[in-house]
Amino acid sequence: MVRVSVPATSANLGPGFDTLGVALDLRNVIEMDEPGVDDVVIEVEGAGGGALENPGQNMVYQAARRVFERLGYEPNGLLIRERVAIPVARGMGSSAAAIVGGLVAANALVAQRTGRPGLDRAELLRMAVAIEGHPDNVTPAMVGGFTVCCMDQERGPLHLRFDPPRSLRAVVVMPEVQFKGKKTEQSRGVLPAEVPMKDAVYNLNRTALLVAALAQGRTDLLAVAMQDRLHQPYRATLVPGLRSVFEAARAAGALGVALSGAGPSVIAFVAESAEPVALAMEAAFQWAGSEARSLTVDLARDGARVLAGPGRERELLDRPPYWG
Ligand code: HSE
Repeated sequence: MVRVSVPATSANLGPGFDTLGVALDLRNVIEMDEPGVDDVVIEVEGAGGGALENPGQNMVYQAARRVFERLGYEPNGLLIRERVAIPVARGMGSSAAAIVGGLVAANALVAQRTGRPGLDRAELLRMAVAIEGHPDNVTPAMVGGFTVCCMDQERGPLHLRFDPPRSLRAVVVMPEVQFKGKKTEQSRGVLPAEVPMKDAVYNLNRTALLVAALAQGRTDLLAVAMQDRLHQPYRATLVPGLRSVFEAARAAGALGVALSGAGPSVIAFVAESAEPVALAMEAAFQWAGSEARSLTVDLARDGARVLAGPGRERELLDRPPYWG
């Protein structure tokens, strides 16, 4: 049996559309075993089960299959147990966690069963990006910390990670907004095909400033550095009250605030008291007609970790920064 934990993530961080992400200290745990009877059993705790227990719709299973195919290993049945802490379809990287968790767990299971080393983290991350289609959630889910991603046509996905400033925590506020159909598709569907040059330059300024500010611990710059004109103004049509939630967060003391990934959750960074920020954001959502609940979480230095499994893999994964 192998056991893997994978963190939630928040992508974009305002201006860094499809580029920036951060791991959050809220983790799903996945156990995977080969029971020796030709059957697939999936048990999900904490996310309503149901559809997720169907192998055809379970992303942990789907991702695991890719690793088995890649390594030419056919398990004799498969047991997957998931303890889900990351809210599903809220913009907190639940699908990235499922993909990364499935890949890492399957890789560790094959290593345990065969004694072979399996795929390295770089290869697992390439597979995760190919499945997810965007690098900005799966990368921090795999390696932890803040990550900067770049898709290069020749070299594929590249990234750099760095540790988050120790002083920062995140308040994530989740409104009860329902998307029609698939959330990320709808949320990308409202974006324009082209943007004005001045908006592109605006985002270049902010993205560069945000990376430098985080690297140097200049959290005083986050309010400006997390502004965005590429996606949030368009997505505001899908998340009622988004602008007033941003204003409420800043007025209550948030250092910076952004839509989390494709939404509908909003993430605010705080250095001191989180509660006034959480309450102000919840109230602003309620004022706009959406019930909302909040979570305050630390930023996670660790990405996916093998908690129980083959010794070599555990040793490799527990020595940050893993690579890249
Ligand atoms: N960068 C992605 C988006 C994150 O904003 O659509 C969700 O996959």
